[in-house]
Amino acid sequence: MVRDKKADSIIASKIDALLPLMTLEEKIGQMTQVRHFDDITEEEVATRFIGSIIHTEGSDPGKTALDWQLKFKKFQEIALSTRLGIPLLFGVDAVHGQNTFDGATIFPHNIGLGASGNAELVKKAASITALEARATGFNWVFSPCVAIPYNEKWGRVYEAFSESTELTTKLTRASVEGHQGSFSDPRKVMATTKHFIGDGATDYGQEGGETSLSRKEVNEYLLPPYKAAIELGVGSVMTSFNTLNGISMHAHKDLITDTLKKEMKFDGIVVSDWKGYSKYGENATVNGGIDMVMAVDGDLEMFQKGLLEAVKKGEVSIDRINDAVRRILRQKYRLGLFENPFPDPELIQEIGSDEHRAVARQAVRESLVLLKNEKNILPLEKILPKIVVVGEHADSAGLQSGGWTIDWQGADRNYQGATTILEGIKKLARGEVIYDQHATNVQEDADVAIIFIGEKPYAEFFGDVGHEVSDFELFLTESHKHYIDAYANKGVKTVVVLLSGRPLVTTKEIDQSDAFVAAWLPGSEGDGVAEVLFGDHDFKGKLPHSWPKSIDDYKSKYGPNFWDDSIEPLFPFGFGLQYN
Ligand code: GLC
Repeated sequence: MVRDKKADSIIASKIDALLPLMTLEEKIGQMTQVRHFDDITEEEVATRFIGSIIHTEGSDPGKTALDWQLKFKKFQEIALSTRLGIPLLFGVDAVHGQNTFDGATIFPHNIGLGASGNAELVKKAASITALEARATGFNWVFSPCVAIPYNEKWGRVYEAFSESTELTTKLTRASVEGHQGSFSDPRKVMATTKHFIGDGATDYGQEGGETSLSRKEVNEYLLPPYKAAIELGVGSVMTSFNTLNGISMHAHKDLITDTLKKEMKFDGIVVSDWKGYSKYGENATVNGGIDMVMAVDGDLEMFQKGLLEAVKKGEVSIDRINDAVRRILRQKYRLGLFENPFPDPELIQEIGSDEHRAVARQAVRESLVLLKNEKNILPLEKILPKIVVVGEHADSAGLQSGGWTIDWQGADRNYQGATTILEGIKKLARGEVIYDQHATNVQEDADVAIIFIGEKPYAEFFGDVGHEVSDFELFLTESHKHYIDAYANKGVKTVVVLLSGRPLVTTKEIDQSDAFVAAWLPGSEGDGVAEVLFGDHDFKGKLPHSWPKSIDDYKSKYGPNFWDDSIEPLFPFGFGLQYN
């Protein structure tokens, strides 16, 4: 999207008029981002000149979408009542639909969209996410994550599109365009490419760990999605928790200021991650080039007071503060918030609409990857007399959606508007469908067993393998191995469907099954899986990651990646079978 130069020059003159009127406290206020509860009282939105409010983990702004809108409208009215009346940005982690709102359309996580490879579909999904985010009171989403995962031990592989820089760059373009459009459209939001930079390439996949890539590798493998996003005018970039060769990405002046802002001409907001300053102090992060700080969880006073003193002592220059505030004001003008600061109640009726869900169902279908189909057992005949469905993942919207769904760490329960995969199977099958949830009632005479296995939901470092808090391995759990054994050992034909945020070491289980499908984390429209299993639609998905053959593939810092042919994967990047 070519920037509208005329509009930008008008905005620049507005900022030139406004900035000199601002006190240092008002400028530091604009650089402050807090949660809508716990961190701030309504009164403090005004007295502390807050620039942005976010909703993440924790208490909902209300029950209905209108409650959410009214809560944020109240904050906005308070912000507009201040001397200069600068409107607030409202940010949310809507990373696969407006996933914090119960009832929103939930898309496959980005790894599934990566498997679809369908840029048009990604753009549509982002556009719907933007609308449902606006409908619940937000004008900023912290998405897309454009990490290039080097190691499946990382707990956030599913948030990224692919290990392929090229595929990630293509889908980043689509995602930014879908979210932002022409930016001032009240049905669009400001997007955020994250986490800058090297989040997915840490040694051994540790969230917030050390990334030891050379600058050449960063330029070649990790920067292209950011370059593409900046060309499209992405409104914000979020810095990453990892260090890059020992320097925190929250204080990396060379990459944030000299590369991202100067060389790549990024003119939007660099926002910190959650208390990202904690390692190096907020002044180092602001001096590094961060413009807005997530001063959450009780850090408000420390941040504002610390920065004020730092400016007074000359440790942080007023030019740096002015650059940060100029960038924040620029995006608020571009979003049209000065003219149109409030959410539109008219949008509420579109949340979770049939039309939105149909797009999400298409994304589910196109995300599925067929890894094995012995004797063409798939597609299943709808008239099969007896189908047995196995596994708790078959009948739980929460388990099929993964982390960042309803709650930060996901949910293992159903949620509003979602369809489980079992419901989808029952809708299409004409014969008997038996649900043997934990393979405790083995149906030896079943014509086929559809066995669902996978990971329970996780987010961020909770999904790291080998991280001290993790109880994840890259293998299946014993109970899921039992599901397959219980049926395969009885000679029942088995179709195994893996619901996971990443490829897992499943070589033995793939050998045991007649058909094996990687379904990733499909989101609310579980029936999309059934539509492909029964052949209403063919498989289209291709592996967005090389598939490991054994845990030995992870002996070094990274996993089996398509750009590193030192490890022979079980299935290569781009692999995927089809019916025809
Ligand atoms: C988290 C995540 C980031 C998210 C932010 C706000 O720690 O790293 O992806 O956008 O905090 O919730």
